[in-house]
Parts: sequence; C-alpha cells; structure tokens
Amino acid sequence: MVAVTTKPVRMIDLILAKRTGAHHTKSDIGFLVDGIMDGSIPDYQLAAWLMAVCWQGMTLEETAWLTDAMRHSGQILDLSAIGPVIGDKHSTGGVGDKTTLVFVPLLAAAGIPMAKLSGRGLGHTGGTIDKLEAIPGFQVDISIEQFIKQVKEIGMAIGGQTAELAPADGKIYALRDVTGTVESIPLICASVMSKKLAAGANFIILDVKCGRGAFMETEEKAIELAQAMAEVGRILKRPVTAVVTDMEQPLGRAVGHTVEVIEAIETLKGNGPDDLTELCLELGSLALVHAGKAKDNSEARTKLQDLISSGKALSTFATLIKAQGGDDKVLTDYSLMPTAKHTKPFVVPGTGKKWLEHLDGKKVAEACKLMGAGRTKKGDPVNLAVGVVLQIKTGDETSGGATAAIVHYDTEEQFEAASKKLVEAFTFSDKFVAKPKLIKASIS
Ligand code: URA
Repeated sequence: MVAVTTKPVRMIDLILAKRTGAHHTKSDIGFLVDGIMDGSIPDYQLAAWLMAVCWQGMTLEETAWLTDAMRHSGQILDLSAIGPVIGDKHSTGGVGDKTTLVFVPLLAAAGIPMAKLSGRGLGHTGGTIDKLEAIPGFQVDISIEQFIKQVKEIGMAIGGQTAELAPADGKIYALRDVTGTVESIPLICASVMSKKLAAGANFIILDVKCGRGAFMETEEKAIELAQAMAEVGRILKRPVTAVVTDMEQPLGRAVGHTVEVIEAIETLKGNGPDDLTELCLELGSLALVHAGKAKDNSEARTKLQDLISSGKALSTFATLIKAQGGDDKVLTDYSLMPTAKHTKPFVVPGTGKKWLEHLDGKKVAEACKLMGAGRTKKGDPVNLAVGVVLQIKTGDETSGGATAAIVHYDTEEQFEAASKKLVEAFTFSDKFVAKPKLIKASIS
C-alpha cells in the first residue's frame, strides 16, 4: 500500500513524500502549483520535487490534477461560440516535422475550425513558428483576441504559444530544461496537455514521435506517453486521439525552414513525400470521423484527397497566409522566401549497389544546426535559408556516388561542417533493407 501525503504545510513534505513514492492528493498538487505561481516555492525545492517525480512517477490521477492546476494557472480561451468542434493538433517534436503547415489548412478546408498555437524550435527539434517566418510578412505574434477573431472569421489561425496560457508550465519547463528532468512521462503529459486544454479546442490530436529524433526514443515509452495523454484527456473530459509515429529518421525529405515550407506547399499541391502525405491523411481522417464529417477512415481519406487535388487545400493556405499579413505569392514563387546562396550534393560513399540501412534524424538536425538553422538558447537568431533535402530515406536502394542529400548553405565552412555530420547520419548496407513503418500505434 503506497502512502498518500496528508495536507501539506511545507514543500519539504511533498518532496519527501514523492521521494519515497507516495501519492499526492489533489490539494497537495494545488498547493504546489499555487506556490510556483506566487513564488513561495523556491526553484531548488521545485527542482528536487521534479527529480523525485522523474524517479518515482505519478499516477494518472495525480497527472490529471497537475495538468488541471497548470491549465488554471493562467488565461483559458473560450472558443465555444465558434462551433461544436474546434480542432487542435500537437506534435511532441521532431526533425522535418512540417505537418501543421499542411494539416491546419487541410482541415479548415474540410470545415473543421483549427485553433493552433505553436512553438519555436529548441534543441535539435524545429518549430512551426520559425518555419512560418520564412513566409514574407507572416505575423506569428498575434494577440489572443485576433487569434479567436481569425478562427471565427476564416476557420483557422496559427499563433505563437503565449505566456498567458498555462504560465505554470513556462516556469516548470525552464527548470526542467536545466535540471535533467525533461524526460518524465507525467511531466511531459502535464506540460503538453495543460497548454492544449487552456488553448480552448474541444478535440485534440496528438502526434507522439518516437525514435532518435524525438524526446521518446523507444516505441514503448512513446505508447506509454500517448496513453497517459489520452487518459488525462478522458479524466478532464476533453477527447484526445493520439498516434505514435516514427521519428528515427526525419519526416519527409526537407529539414530546415524555407525548404520545409516548400515541402509543405508541395504536399498541399499533391506532390508531397509519401510519409508526410500519409501522416496528414491519417491524422486528418481521425479528425473528420470524430467531427462527424465522414462515416469512416476511407470516406475521410477520399474527402481529404479531393481537397488536395481540387486545389481547395492550397487556396485555404493562401487565405491563412493573407489573414496573417503574409505574401501568398510564395505559393507559386519560392524565391520570395529566404534562399541559401549555394546548393551542393552530399554523395553516397564508395561504389556499387547499396541500401540505406539507417538515417539518424538527430544527426541530420545537428548538420542543419551547424549551419545556423537551430538555436542553442531561447532567443538565438536562426538562419531560415539553410537546410538539407534528403534524396533517399531508410530502405531506399542507391549506389556509391549517387546523391544522398542536397545541402543548402551560405558558406563553404557551413557545407564542410554539415557534411561531416551527415557522414555520421547515413548508414548503408549491401543487403536489402525494409522500409520502416511510419504509424506505429493509434490510441484514443
Ligand atoms: N513539449 C512540451 O510542451 N513539454 C514537454 O515537456 C515536452 C515537449
């Protein structure tokens, strides 16, 4: 029988209780989040508690109470006037993940209002907000009032994550980042879900990434996280559908900012890479069936494919770009976006027939970061023009001397640094290699 903490009078009681694996009560969690917000709990005590959670975990009930208390730590958007189903989508972060840029206009074109708050890239993972800034004029810093107004008027908005929603998460996350306490399932679950719940959508689709390019490196851990988030959604009465998808290698072929926006636009035109297109159709059909806009997955897919082939999905993206001050001519003229000075192929080493056995997403991201595409700390500027466009993915047949990737770079030093990292990213085999499965599990 695991002890339950009694009414805390001091933070030390919570730390000691969690250190020994006891369960907190709802009022313990309320005390904790109130103390974080009013500053009465110092960082060193919060850090000790976070570490205890990393080792001892939390029950689903504790996680739901923490999520709920964090959600109530700031403003909560009320989108109920917009319609019965407002969608939101969240990815736990990865490399080459430009899904939101396709998904939001695609779903809005299908008649599901999309209210999406996104983040900037940090560490090796990219951020939607940075990618959108490659579109000239596109305003990501929109006020909450404008965000809601835009969802009402045109059925979609993508804004930057605001500090007014779930501010307790901002405080906790900053400390987790520097105390080695990011990789904890209950803490990630509460962090993601508190922000999603505060953002007001009443149907949440989560894409939990697993593999070397993601926070959750193994499939088991990613499934555990997806189940925890679906369960917390159920406890807090907000339907959540989660898919667990591969992030061992980058999603799609483009990794960078401008190059990823181009790939997203090509996907809306029906020319996207298979994996990105498949992910958007799978996530989209789950949403359409949930919203009652299709009776099953196959009808939903047909609808979404029609929206792409008719050009409606692309014109909906043009509407979004214009509404947020951007220049929609980028949809036909990619040179309007920041463009690297040079491109050069990175070639497959050796000679003869080979298969790409493994492609390390994290190393591809590091190659881009070495060219200035990533941040080391919050607020660092990013080079939107540089990037890597993969020409082969895991399981593809190739041969020595063929192009493995095209590097978009500004200086020779950047190309040299990126190439060294790319050598480590690609592993070849002279035997057949099967293509990996993209969607590993679906949880709702
Ligand atoms: N993304 C978040 O928003 N929070 C986490 O804890 C991890 C990823």
